[in-house]
Amino acid sequence: MKMKKRVGIIGYGMVASSNHKKSYARAKDAEVVAVCDVNKKALERAKNDFGLPDEALFDDYKKLIDSGICEMVDICTPNCYHCEQAKYALNAGLPVSIEKPVGMNSQEVEEVRKLAEEKGLPVFICFTWRHMPTTRYLKDVIDSGVVGKVYHCYIKCIKESGLWEGRRLEWRFDKELCGTGVLCDLGSHMIDFLNWMNEDIVGLSANLGIFIKERQKLDSDEWAPVTTDDYANVLADLKSGATANIELSRCAKTESQLVEFIVYGEKGYIRYCNYVGEGLEICYGSKEEIKKGKQRVATPEKYGKHGAIYQSQSFLDYANGKSDSFTSTIDDGLRAQMIIDAVVRSNEEKRYVKIEEIEKELK
Ligand SMILES: NC(=O)c1ccc[n+]([C@@H]2O[C@H](COP(=O)([O-])OP(=O)(O)OC[C@H]3O[C@@H](n4cnc5c(N)ncnc54)[C@H](O)[C@@H]3O)[C@@H](O)[C@H]2O)c1
Repeated sequence: MKMKKRVGIIGYGMVASSNHKKSYARAKDAEVVAVCDVNKKALERAKNDFGLPDEALFDDYKKLIDSGICEMVDICTPNCYHCEQAKYALNAGLPVSIEKPVGMNSQEVEEVRKLAEEKGLPVFICFTWRHMPTTRYLKDVIDSGVVGKVYHCYIKCIKESGLWEGRRLEWRFDKELCGTGVLCDLGSHMIDFLNWMNEDIVGLSANLGIFIKERQKLDSDEWAPVTTDDYANVLADLKSGATANIELSRCAKTESQLVEFIVYGEKGYIRYCNYVGEGLEICYGSKEEIKKGKQRVATPEKYGKHGAIYQSQSFLDYANGKSDSFTSTIDDGLRAQMIIDAVVRSNEEKRYVKIEEIEKELK
């Protein structure tokens, strides 16, 4: 019988105990054998979820890695810890999966990339939107060329989560722990989405800002400043000559989470909107077909039924030397990070920023 790969998770909070737990449960050849978290309650949850013995629970990621229990590591901590933890795992010879965004800035991500290259080890990035049935379908439709040359991509990811009453100053609202706000949180997925569609961003103008300027701290009722953006708007030029508008917000009252991708090409139109459910709205083809107007098409069964549950299998496959068009690597993570840095610079300096400018500064 084939041995299952032994995975250690670092950071067992929201995303690890929901998406990652479900995704490993579906993955054919992996089992979660150890978990590290600095929070005791999170470790208790992990113990129950995976039936782990106390020796497999750690409050320090170095101890988990040094224990030798795991063959690969899955990093799901707040953003500021990703790169340091990834480098420690790579130095111990372990393949790594890192939640998005890879790091706080492109320089630290470049260090992870270089180390992975030097060690010859795979680093997988959790760009979850690559693992949704309908986005995979959307990619295939665009790649098939039915809309012809792409002119415009309109991407929206907006929600009201920044307006939830009483929401405290979690790590997401603190620049020292998160880097940027909605830009790296929701935006990194949307930026990667364009990259994955081969519509890489080459230059941009952006603005971002903070509407909710103060929140109460987590451990006291004291109010403190929010230091990460809760909205961002990006106007980008793409490698193909097309343009992209990306709108991000967590201050969009009444939206639980609206995600929309619209592509207009020389021969037609495609739209995905999560509110409408799985499937696409399309209008392309012959004159007769265009005359029929916008039609809804269901996502074919071959794309599967569930979303992010394919992500962990994709990590395992990559660690086993197998990649496909869904695999997101440290190069993809670095590309997204450079674009995030360019957005921040464009907003600060109020000018158009080329991505090559950020790339040239990497050491
Ligand atoms: N791919 C996606 O769709 C997606 C969705 C949500 C979050 N994320 C990413 O996942 C990461 C975690 O987000 P979350 O929402 O689960 O946050 P969270 O706050 O719910 O969980 C983070 C966990 O890490 C633990 N932790 C903090 N510092 C640690 C350390 N030094 N060592 C070990 N554990 C530590 C915390 O106690 C907590 O349990 C972030 O990078 C976030 O951007 C990705």
